[in-house]
Amino acid sequence: AWRTELVVAVDGPSGSGKSSVSREVANRLGLAYLDTGAMYRALTWWCLEASVDLDDEDAVASAANDFQLQMGTDPIVETIMVGGIDIREAIREARVTENVSAVAKNQKARDALIGRQRMEIVSNGRRIVAEGRDITTVVAPDASVRILLTASEEARMKRRGEQIGATGDEDRLKLEVAQRDAADSKVNNFTEAADGVTLVDSTELDFDQTVQAVIDVIRTTTAQH
Ligand code: DC
Repeated sequence: AWRTELVVAVDGPSGSGKSSVSREVANRLGLAYLDTGAMYRALTWWCLEASVDLDDEDAVASAANDFQLQMGTDPIVETIMVGGIDIREAIREARVTENVSAVAKNQKARDALIGRQRMEIVSNGRRIVAEGRDITTVVAPDASVRILLTASEEARMKRRGEQIGATGDEDRLKLEVAQRDAADSKVNNFTEAADGVTLVDSTELDFDQTVQAVIDVIRTTTAQH
């Protein structure tokens, strides 16, 4: 059965743990892994680097079509390069995080990245965990398994705080998470599970339990077919 296709689509808000959980699920099941948020971040980094005006919709869209993005899909070895430059760290910087929502709301740029994402799914023989905000609904609505990974706002803020290191500035973090949620939710509704999408709430679960919960959903869903 390990040769058959298995597309696992995972959506969720920031701080839900979806990247680290999806990566580990892919690793344990021997699947490829695609971080689509990293693609929006890579495009944002490239636009900042190439001085593309983020408010110029067509300029950002043509950058999305033309930029030399190399996205790895190995769950263990992360590869994110643009024009041969390793940007794994650069895409997590504040200037990228602050500007990524502006890029993500550009529908023409989205269409270009969605096309690349679908190509990655196909070129990995449709054996992949793909993770983002619109995978279950737009990128791969035909996925074998569709999961919405959520957590309470409080739990997500706590995790984000641990990720970026304790700054002690809890109010600022809270505002940042809330603002990004608000901006992101204008583009995609990732807070309610669409039809056929299984909700996994990680609020009360630790990392391993969340990984196990996702694997349980995959096993249950694929056993039915
Ligand atoms: O998951 P993340 O924080 O790395 O995502 C970065 C940004 O990209 C976030 O603001 C939402 C956006 N995004 C999106 O619009 N669609 C996706 N499939 C993935 C991310």
